[in-house]
Amino acid sequence: MALKRVLEPELMETDRDAREYGKIDHAAAEMEFVRVLSEELGFARGGLIDLGAGPCGIPVEICRRIKGARVTAVEMALPMLKLASGRIARSGFSGCIRLVRADAKATGLPPRSFDFAVCNNLAHHIADPRLLFREIARLLRPGGGVLIRDLRRPRTARELADRMGHCCGDTPRQRELLRGSLLAALLPEEAAAFARKAGLKGLSLRVEGDRHWELRRAVE
Ligand SMILES: C[S@@+](CC[C@H](N)C(=O)[O-])C[C@H]1O[C@@H](n2cnc3c(N)ncnc32)[C@H](O)[C@@H]1O
Repeated sequence: MALKRVLEPELMETDRDAREYGKIDHAAAEMEFVRVLSEELGFARGGLIDLGAGPCGIPVEICRRIKGARVTAVEMALPMLKLASGRIARSGFSGCIRLVRADAKATGLPPRSFDFAVCNNLAHHIADPRLLFREIARLLRPGGGVLIRDLRRPRTARELADRMGHCCGDTPRQRELLRGSLLAALLPEEAAAFARKAGLKGLSLRVEGDRHWELRRAVE
């Protein structure tokens, strides 16, 4: 039987955890995320929303690579918002990224107002991911694109131990955060079922290596 999902705190609310997360080098993963967005899912211009944007590595990379993009980055935790606003200012892309403090499950932003929605490593923070997926469906215009990516929960204690064995360069707190996130993560089939129940249509599910799943839909 697969390991049970164990929820972790929804927000990264302490300065220490935000700093520890911000210190992890996500550059390669962010570049690959934006490559998929641009080359495989056809996002070339327009309004994109990034839900649970954390320190805003993905929004900055989108603006660097996709000249016609205007990004709304949604984050709720104050320490993360502080990191994000520093990073955006240093990147020189303040004119392209709007940082909004809101709950990704109920942003209060106008319906059908985005061409694309992305979400990286947020779903495992949310107890009922249907609420997040419903909000994405509400925010997108008809034909809008989707890229949701997250950690995949290990199916067995052995798999969990193997996955943890591959992160030995990290600090003890970073390892603790990763372990908690892996246990809180969804299985790929659970993510797909939540998206279906939330009315997010036409998504395809991919399992990326042994660590991630993706739900995606190209923009029309
Ligand atoms: C693991 S981080 C991922 C950050 C970023 N997407 C990335 O790829 O680096 C998840 C972020 O989602 C934020 N978060 C969690 N629940 C949220 C919610 N309901 N609304 C907005 N942000 C949320 C957390 O505070 C944290 O900064």
